[in-house]
Amino acid sequence: MQSIFSAPNPLLFGSGAVKTIGDKMKEYGCKKALVVYDKGIKLAGLADIVIGVIRDAGLEAVSFDEVQADPPDWSVEKAGKLAVDEGVDIVIGLGGGSSMDTAKGAKVLITNPPPLKQYFGREGVVTKPSVPLIVIPTTAGTGSECTPGGTITDTERGIKVNISGVGAQVTLGIVDPELTVNLPPAITASTGMDALCHCTESYTSKRANYFSGVLGRDGTKLVAKYLARAVKNGREDIEAREGMSLAASLGGMAMSGAFCHLSHDIGRSLGAKFHVPHGNGCAVTLPQTMKVVAPVYPEKVRYIAECFGKELAADATPEEIGQAAHDAIRDLVKEIGLPSMKGLGLDLDELLAVVPDEVVMQAEMSAKIGIVTIPVPVTKELIENIIRDAWNEALED
Ligand SMILES: [Fe+2]
Repeated sequence: MQSIFSAPNPLLFGSGAVKTIGDKMKEYGCKKALVVYDKGIKLAGLADIVIGVIRDAGLEAVSFDEVQADPPDWSVEKAGKLAVDEGVDIVIGLGGGSSMDTAKGAKVLITNPPPLKQYFGREGVVTKPSVPLIVIPTTAGTGSECTPGGTITDTERGIKVNISGVGAQVTLGIVDPELTVNLPPAITASTGMDALCHCTESYTSKRANYFSGVLGRDGTKLVAKYLARAVKNGREDIEAREGMSLAASLGGMAMSGAFCHLSHDIGRSLGAKFHVPHGNGCAVTLPQTMKVVAPVYPEKVRYIAECFGKELAADATPEEIGQAAHDAIRDLVKEIGLPSMKGLGLDLDELLAVVPDEVVMQAEMSAKIGIVTIPVPVTKELIENIIRDAWNEALED
């Protein structure tokens, strides 16, 4: 058996790690940073902390504070233009996935001329090296601090696409769990479920290997132990915050080679077409995904169910195993108060008219370039069934 795994970039992990950012800039020979974030990060006081550390070190910082959710290409191009106009020599992405993805795109555009759409694609995209990029997550979920590319909304086609290649590479991820303590429970819940999706989907991906499996398994265990605690008592329970930050980074590394599959493919479509937040959009079909993959990987799905305390007989059937994992994840989603498909205000007919075709098309496009992640044959009927099943899940009762 052959397998390949690469951890895309170094990570500095630990409470208080953000205070090293000035030293890191000096280490890279940089003097002027573009700090990329959104209004919420500013309001939470996190942008001031980072910019303060940079200025205290005698270095310069300019802000791009207009990050949009599910970053549209035009917004990323605006950040890239600011970086070029200001002559920055480092980009710092501060926030959730959208801030980090915008920062990755801005980095690309410093040495690769716009429009950004020239660089859309999953693998094999050629971009020129650019300035250093430090990303600092303020949520525990996306794992973008250790993935080799970013996700951007292609506004022309109304779909989410990847930017990757050397021009988008992260130089250093700084993961400071203290930055997550003031996250509201709803965001802790949805981003935490994103982390769980990364861990469990990459573990059951057709591209999974031993290395990604180790990361996905441990990440799953951490989410099972800490997510509900972080949602309920995130201000005081630093241990839970640290556990979730670790789980998010493990999930990011695990999916870097193995990728996610069904829940993310559906979640991406829900995000691009129906503006459902990423974590919610992926979480809403994770229980069903477990049922679908259990017949292919019963031992893996058994492990996931057992992480959540489910006890299964040694001779449990794949269906029983899938159902146990389904129930465990559904119960977690319910406990942390995430909405169901109905609770998200979605319309079943509209979903069925759009999402199955979109997911099948994306799977076929990926297969054409040799990327197959979904461990079962992808048909319109399969996706329709997952959506119908998730639709009937009554989490709010
Ligand atoms: Fe995700």
